Amino acid sequence: MRHFISTEDWTQAELQALIDEARLLKAAPFQPLLQNKSIALVFFNPSLRTRSSFELGMWQLGGHALVLEPGKSAWPLEFKEGVVMDGEAEEHVAEAARVLARYCDIIAVRAFPKFVDWGFDRTDPVIKTFAKYSTVPVINMETITHPCQELAHMMALQERMGDVRKKKYVMTWTYHPKGLNTAVANSGLLISTKFGMDVTLLCPEEAYHLDERYMSAAKANAEASGGSFQVSYDIDEAYAGADVVYAKSWGALPYFGNWDAEKPMRDKYKHFIVDERKMALTNNAIFSHCLPCRRNIKVTDAVIDSPQSMVIDEAENRLHAQKALMHQLATTYRG
Ligand code: CP
Repeated sequence: MRHFISTEDWTQAELQALIDEARLLKAAPFQPLLQNKSIALVFFNPSLRTRSSFELGMWQLGGHALVLEPGKSAWPLEFKEGVVMDGEAEEHVAEAARVLARYCDIIAVRAFPKFVDWGFDRTDPVIKTFAKYSTVPVINMETITHPCQELAHMMALQERMGDVRKKKYVMTWTYHPKGLNTAVANSGLLISTKFGMDVTLLCPEEAYHLDERYMSAAKANAEASGGSFQVSYDIDEAYAGADVVYAKSWGALPYFGNWDAEKPMRDKYKHFIVDERKMALTNNAIFSHCLPCRRNIKVTDAVIDSPQSMVIDEAENRLHAQKALMHQLATTYRG
């Protein structure tokens, strides 16, 4: 049995096979591949794209998706082992995951960090405990990485560029009024380096480096794939000749959860917005963002509405990529 928790555990060839099947499903969306199959979608955080695309994707393949929101429409859950459950949680994941696995063929989980202690959150405790107790495959719908977004992102890049190897890929930090999850940025590094791109992480300063685990994984991926990985603090140098600009905001890890203290530093960097001047430095680069996106904070209207913007294509591809993923996990990788 395979889980889909991080693309670190999947080879480039396996990921490409998922994208290839997604391309077939995009051409012929309604197929009875998952008749009598079901998926439990467990959301600890809000969503527009992830929830819609998983629910509709399972329906388009003949199966059923159910949505659970612990603490709202389902019991609040406990994840720690050996605790006296005298707090808010009415149920332990040890029971919840095993029960859902008796009902469903796949369990998918969205659980963002708690933004209290990165040292704890970086262990990805919620989805790891679901995976520990589940007897069916578990899909990450965004925790500290966002591997489903990675599939849709790479699929959209290949649709626009064909072979992505050695293309210049810039992952740029952008301003946002709040400190956000690093998941999409971690994932951007993982997938671009795994597929042999020349990757630049553009940060305002060292405080915005991503977790060393993902910086190291990016270096290792680049060495294995024939790509490259570097960090830049120079906006014009990073944008120069870029083929792809992937924009994302994230909170500085040294200030994790302490965003009021981070704010004076963050407020100095509003000029990291993706705009027409910066895009003019590129090789007519594709603009990408995972969405949701604050217009004229992270990116100007002119850029996100330009023909070079692939944000809607990438969002659409969530549907196709996750259908391929559910199909392969429920059949090939079920074990
Ligand atoms: N990109 C993404 O995961 O969108 P949602 O948060 O709306 O699901």
